[in-house]
Parts: sequence; C-alpha cells; structure tokens
Amino acid sequence: MKVTIVGAGNVGATCADVISFRKIASEVVLLDIRENFAEGKALDMMQTATLIGFNTAVSGSTNDYAKTANSDVVVITSGVPRKPGMTREELIGINAGIVKGVTDNVLKHSPKAIIVVVSNPMDTMTYLALKESKLPKNRIIGMGGILDSSRFKCYLSMALNAPANDIEGMVIGGHGDTTMIPLTRLASYKGVPVAQFLSADGMKKVAADTMVGGATLTGMLGTSAWYAPGAAVAALVDSILNDQKKLFPCCVYLDGEYGQKDICLGVPVIIGKNGWEKIVDIKLNEEEKAVFNKSADAVRNMNNVLSTIAI
Ligand code: 2OP
Repeated sequence: MKVTIVGAGNVGATCADVISFRKIASEVVLLDIRENFAEGKALDMMQTATLIGFNTAVSGSTNDYAKTANSDVVVITSGVPRKPGMTREELIGINAGIVKGVTDNVLKHSPKAIIVVVSNPMDTMTYLALKESKLPKNRIIGMGGILDSSRFKCYLSMALNAPANDIEGMVIGGHGDTTMIPLTRLASYKGVPVAQFLSADGMKKVAADTMVGGATLTGMLGTSAWYAPGAAVAALVDSILNDQKKLFPCCVYLDGEYGQKDICLGVPVIIGKNGWEKIVDIKLNEEEKAVFNKSADAVRNMNNVLSTIAI
C-alpha cells in the first residue's frame, strides 16, 4: 500500500512520520519542490526505522511525479501555510494554482488514487481539486474536521480534567475560524453529555477555543501547526488503506445532503477503501442547521473567488 504526500513541510513530514511509525502503509513517497528537501526528510525518517521498529519504505523526491506512480492515496499539503494574524482564506490566491497543478500531476501517475486535500483554505481547495480532476466525488476528501475534532476533544478534556480518550466530540462545517461548528450538544464524556459536567459558559469557551485552535498555535509558533494536523491525516489514511469504515467528519461534496448542493463541506462520513463511502445524517437541530447553512454560505463565497482569480 503506497501513499504519496505532496509537500514535505511540517504537516506533510509529520504525516509521513506517523504513517511510518504506526505501520499504516508499506511505502511512503514524499515530494517537495525544494531541492533535496523531501529526500532529506525521508532519509532522516528511515534512520528511525530500527529505533522505532517499522518497515515502511520512506523515500523523497524533488518534484519527480514518476516516483509517485500507482499510489493508493495521495495527500496534498502543498502551498503556503498561514502566518500569525492571517486567516486560512487569505491563502487562496497562491494555493489555488499550486493545488490545481499538483492534482493534475498526481493523477497522471496514480489515476486510481484517493486524494486527501489538506492545503488551505481547505474546503475551497477540496472543491477545486474535485472540479479540476473530475474524479468520482467519493475519491476526494478534505481533511479538517478530524483535526478540529481532536482539538475540541483536547479542550474538553482539559476543561473536565479527564483523559482525552474518554471524550467523544465532532466538529463539522467549514475548516475556518468562523465557519467550523463544534457540536457541543452531542459531545460526551464516556457516553454522558458533557453539558452535565460543564457550565454553559465553560462550554462556550471550549467551543470558542476550538474554533481558533489553529490560529492560537500559529500565533505561538509563527507558522501553522503540524503535530495534530499530521496525525489527523494519518488517521484518515489509515481508515482508507485498512478499510476501517471509521466515522469521521470530513470535507466532501454535498449534493443535497445536509440541505446543501455543489459545495465541499465538513460532515460525518464513513471512510473506507473507496474513499468516503457514505454521508451519515446525524439529524441536526434547527439551531445547528442554521449555523451549518451560515458556514456553507461563507465557504460558497470563498469558492466563488476561484472564478475571479487566475489559477
Ligand atoms: C490547522 O492547523 C493546518 O489548517 C491547519 O488548523
């Protein structure tokens, strides 16, 4: 099972590292436009194989797409990350051209691959990759909701002083500071609604911290985060390659589901060997539906920018 990761920056490299040490794939190819950069990252990772005990073959290449041939999954992380104070949306001008070019190139060599889009603004880049590739919709998945949900569960666990793995919770909608929707009503601590343990204000704070989770880290680190984003992509790739049928919130093409059409947006889906295999309707209440529609409007506005810029 072969995975290509385009972009060997912080997120791409972390993703390759987690895929290797968790033995998710037998082969990982890292690609980067910077001379020798992906090769260096791959070699460094291979030197951990005997320390950690994995057999995944990790290799790197400077933009030679032939090396990515016959990948089962291709992860696109290429593009520029945000700097402190920037929104993900501000990256559209630069990243749209990059994501379009990368999508064309990977499909020439891996026509059967499932594509995972991570580059920001992720919802719009997923929509662009789908339109550009004309692939069946199930084979294009944007990764944002898994990451946002892990941040949500992390903040909930800190507020409850409970282990993160005892917490369940999901973030749907767009992957933007104002478009993501932490589903506080459905979050639970070992199956018990978290509302039983947290005040309304406490819950509001967790939701607000989750929504700016990426921005907070960008402010602290000077660039976009990578440990959780890389691990979140690896979890998604694991469910695809090993046909785990996990339920994850992912950015997928909606054709009437959740009341939206012609848009890629975060909703709960089953992830398996065919990509996203099914959208799960979790029956949002009226308030949640209204927020979801607002999120869709914002993402649609961003998608409309695509036709106004030269890609
Ligand atoms: C984040 O840290 C990478 O968008 C990404 O939220």
